[in-house]
Amino acid sequence: MAATGAAVGLGNIWKFPYLTGEHGGSAFVLVYIVCVAALGIPMMMAEVMLGRRGRQTPVNTLRTLAAEAKVSQGWQVIGWCGTLAGMLILSYYSVIGGWTLAYILYSATGTFSGITGEGASALFNQFVQNPAAQIGWHTAFMIMTMYIVARGVQSGLEKAVQYLMPALFGLLLVLVAYATTTGYFWQGLTFLFTPDFSQLSGTSMLTAMGQAFFSLSLGMGTIMIYGSYVPKGTSIASTSVSIALSDTLVALLAGMAIFPIVFANGLEPRAGPSLIFETIPVAFGHMTGGLLFGTLFFLLLLVAAWTSSISLIEPAVTLLIENYRMTRLRAAWWCGMVTWLLGFGTAFSFNLWAQVRVFGMTFFDNLDFLTSNLMLPFGGILIAIFAGWLLSPDTSRTELNIASPWGYSLWRVLIRYVAPVAVSVVLLHAIGVL
Ligand code: PFF
Repeated sequence: MAATGAAVGLGNIWKFPYLTGEHGGSAFVLVYIVCVAALGIPMMMAEVMLGRRGRQTPVNTLRTLAAEAKVSQGWQVIGWCGTLAGMLILSYYSVIGGWTLAYILYSATGTFSGITGEGASALFNQFVQNPAAQIGWHTAFMIMTMYIVARGVQSGLEKAVQYLMPALFGLLLVLVAYATTTGYFWQGLTFLFTPDFSQLSGTSMLTAMGQAFFSLSLGMGTIMIYGSYVPKGTSIASTSVSIALSDTLVALLAGMAIFPIVFANGLEPRAGPSLIFETIPVAFGHMTGGLLFGTLFFLLLLVAAWTSSISLIEPAVTLLIENYRMTRLRAAWWCGMVTWLLGFGTAFSFNLWAQVRVFGMTFFDNLDFLTSNLMLPFGGILIAIFAGWLLSPDTSRTELNIASPWGYSLWRVLIRYVAPVAVSVVLLHAIGVL
């Protein structure tokens, strides 16, 4: 449940729909689903397995396991790279988390009531164009995150998630039900599920793969930390499959709710990061009980973002505690400060620095590309090689303990050959080498 809480976050409800919109819909969705099934699930099993065997922060888990497998200590790079990726991701995740905070307030004060698509776009633009507001909400979200991390009371929040995530799921169903009344439900479904391969470029494939890693929290060692708490008797395979299924279902439901609203209100599917903040208010603004449901929805989205944000910074914090003997409070303070400052770059990407482009992209887009599309897949390749080639088959067979011999062989083929080759090909293709 805790790992599902970490996996389900802004990635599912905010990022998946807008990337799908930007990359033309269905073909992107198809590649995404294939990546989750063929790469995501075996990779998640590998990460949980390594974590359960190493039982430390990712850097130290790899040190222990590299020694056990008698290979170079250089493999610790997986842990370092992942730890860094987590902080980089959190720096922008927190800005978007801040948007959800602000939208709780908008919803609760009735701002959405009767709002049109155009009105919702204008509201959003006005909101992000104010740099002080962006910094303020980002700061508030960071404080919320670091408060939990500093006190080490994650378990309390994770228990609450057991009840709150099903509630979020329920509200998504309410949104989908609303979407069926817009008259554009079918068009939304067609957009999502009738593959149009002409829309598929190398970058779209890389983005779909990167999103699969991002959404499942793979390639950066977070899942290893969760793995380190998994009891011996638990089946790693069925846990991984169920996390991946719930995560994907939430993303698809978000898409099914949002695109009909987009088409019904003449909004732009390629709107980018603003997409859900322009569509969801329209839905709640026209629904009976929308004030209550809307507020509740953004509140639950905030909780989903909160649990993910904690898991993004935990590798860095535990690293400082384990290796540099810092207290949890101090470690949280330092990691939080650095991440918070870095977040300014994203907060300003929508206003002061909106015109500043490097490689044709804003600060936020560059950061997202670097982490989701390069660092996570790269971390994923290394984890697959480590788990598939360096860890002895005896170890992985015992740890995974899959009842059917066929199941274990399938995992081994996927992790040894399919994952490293497929991820490398997509990476190299997208950066123009292949
Ligand atoms: N999976 C989270 C989401 O979909 O929002 C984001 C995330 C959390 C990515 C934790 C990576 C991570 F380690």
